[in-house]
Amino acid sequence: MNQELHELLRELEQFGLENDERTDNRAQRMLNITPDTGEFLSVLIRATNARQVLEIGTSNGYSTLWLAEALSASEGVVTTVEYAEHKYRLAQQTFSRTPLASRIEAIHADAGDLLAKTADGFYDLIFLDSERSAYPGWWPDLKRILRPGGLLVVDNALSHVEQMAPFKALVDGDSEFTTCLVPVGKGEYLATRSERGENC
Ligand SMILES: C[S@@+](CC[C@H](N)C(=O)[O-])C[C@H]1O[C@@H](n2cnc3c(N)ncnc32)[C@H](O)[C@@H]1O
Repeated sequence: MNQELHELLRELEQFGLENDERTDNRAQRMLNITPDTGEFLSVLIRATNARQVLEIGTSNGYSTLWLAEALSASEGVVTTVEYAEHKYRLAQQTFSRTPLASRIEAIHADAGDLLAKTADGFYDLIFLDSERSAYPGWWPDLKRILRPGGLLVVDNALSHVEQMAPFKALVDGDSEFTTCLVPVGKGEYLATRSERGENC
């Protein structure tokens, strides 16, 4: 990672922490992933040679930068979706400060609408970091748009165990998926879709 990006990430980390300490209003909080989660996502993207990545929940674009930087290796692209207008605008400002902008397609929309419009098997990797109560309803589309052999990564699996439980039960119970929980950052739940339909 180059020094300029490193410094931008440090600046955003500081901004996110200070901002989130100032307010209890969830809509105003940045709720960024932890730096070690960024490193973990970077390794996952490189190890899987992912090229098409979807992020659900852009906030001000901190995690998107980690994803886009990792995609430089495969010349891939991250599509990131955010429905809060002020956060979408903050993210645009973030992206304009880096050459990684060409690897980022930022969409201002409700994630459910975007998921419904996405082609089957389009994404190699999906990073889910949004409103957890919506995840079970999104599951049929998430599964449909993840390519066989693709990887779903979900943040907050340890920080919000109860909120994650209904979604985790759905995915754990799907015979096409192999799952695990990784104690990095706020807890990352990983689910990979089998290449050949149901696992034995
Ligand atoms: C935890 S924050 C994302 C943090 C970001 N991934 C990061 O680490 O920098 C979750 C974001 O999801 C957005 N969000 C929640 N529900 C959404 C929906 N239905 N569609 C699009 N964005 C949504 C929220 O506005 C919020 O900015």
